[in-house]
Amino acid sequence: MANRKKIGLIGAGNIGGELARLCANAELGDVVLFDIPAKENFAKGKALDLEQNSSVLGYDAKITGSSNWADLEGSDVLIITAGIPRKPGQSRDDLVAVNLPIIRDVANNAKKHCPDAFVIVISNPLDAMVYEYKRVTGCPKGKVAGMAGVLDSARFQLFLAREAGVSIKDVRAMVLGGHGDDMVPVLSMCTINGVPATHFIKADRMQAIIDRTRKGGGEIVNLMGTSAYYAPASSAVAMAEAYLGDQKRLLACAAYLEGEYGYKDLFMGVPAVIGKGGVEKIVEIPLTSEEKGMLEKSAKSVQSVVDVCKKS
Ligand SMILES: NC(=O)c1ccc[n+]([C@@H]2O[C@H](COP(=O)([O-])OP(=O)(O)OC[C@H]3O[C@@H](n4cnc5c(N)ncnc54)[C@H](O)[C@@H]3O)[C@@H](O)[C@H]2O)c1
Repeated sequence: MANRKKIGLIGAGNIGGELARLCANAELGDVVLFDIPAKENFAKGKALDLEQNSSVLGYDAKITGSSNWADLEGSDVLIITAGIPRKPGQSRDDLVAVNLPIIRDVANNAKKHCPDAFVIVISNPLDAMVYEYKRVTGCPKGKVAGMAGVLDSARFQLFLAREAGVSIKDVRAMVLGGHGDDMVPVLSMCTINGVPATHFIKADRMQAIIDRTRKGGGEIVNLMGTSAYYAPASSAVAMAEAYLGDQKRLLACAAYLEGEYGYKDLFMGVPAVIGKGGVEKIVEIPLTSEEKGMLEKSAKSVQSVVDVCKKS
């Protein structure tokens, strides 16, 4: 078992619990479900419940709960959900004041205890939180990415499949830009098994799907009173698996830009290859002038939240 991987989940709440379940069930490695001291027993309880589940479902994984950073040492992957989720009426950016000190605390500890881990940030406001993580830790750019694009693309793909009346398995689409209401669903790359989606879906319906995708997170917050957690967890696990298995998957994720798409010193959703080196490559795809305009608007929104962080 010398090659057994270790996955540290920072935050044992709704997404953290589902992440633990998925990682264990897929036998990606042993899991440490971490939370603040006041929630340590909660984390331990979830971990024990999930370990008992292994006997029913037949997966081999050690799952522990902890509030001690020393228990995270040696983690191959860290997935960060620490922070507060949205409530109805809130935007992701409204969370910055509460979640900024939390990501700083997590980043300082991760730098000390898990310097070699590949880090996937989920906490919102996503693009600013992943920027702050890199700023505090000074980690190499390939070692940290934000999860949003896989989820936003999944939402877009679902709505396209339902509208076109085809299997979700045949729909390919990507959502780029910041994880906010001005994210950029890239219509020019949207296909149903290679056939342009516009062949199946009329322009007015396509616009309605794009609008619904942009507000996809808020739709769930309004229904449940809190953020989505099943699809967010699966999306982050797809990124973790790509890293652990050196899969070289091309996934939309918030990656550090150094001139790609015309942006510098900013994290934003772009197509990136994830393999054993972490974010190994950012792929620059041709965008229409309209898409470039939308990306610019989205980048400005991300930058404004990053600027708030820099001043705090
Ligand atoms: N990126 C995305 O696409 C996406 C999607 C959905 C939700 N989110 C965000 O993910 C975050 C988590 O959502 P959730 O539904 O799991 O929330 P949750 O409230 O269920 O869980 C968050 C957990 O973080 C813990 N926590 C707080 N401070 C901590 C610290 N310093 N160290 C360790 N743990 C700490 C809390 O005690 C809590 O258990 C939110 O910010 C939410 O907005 C992002």
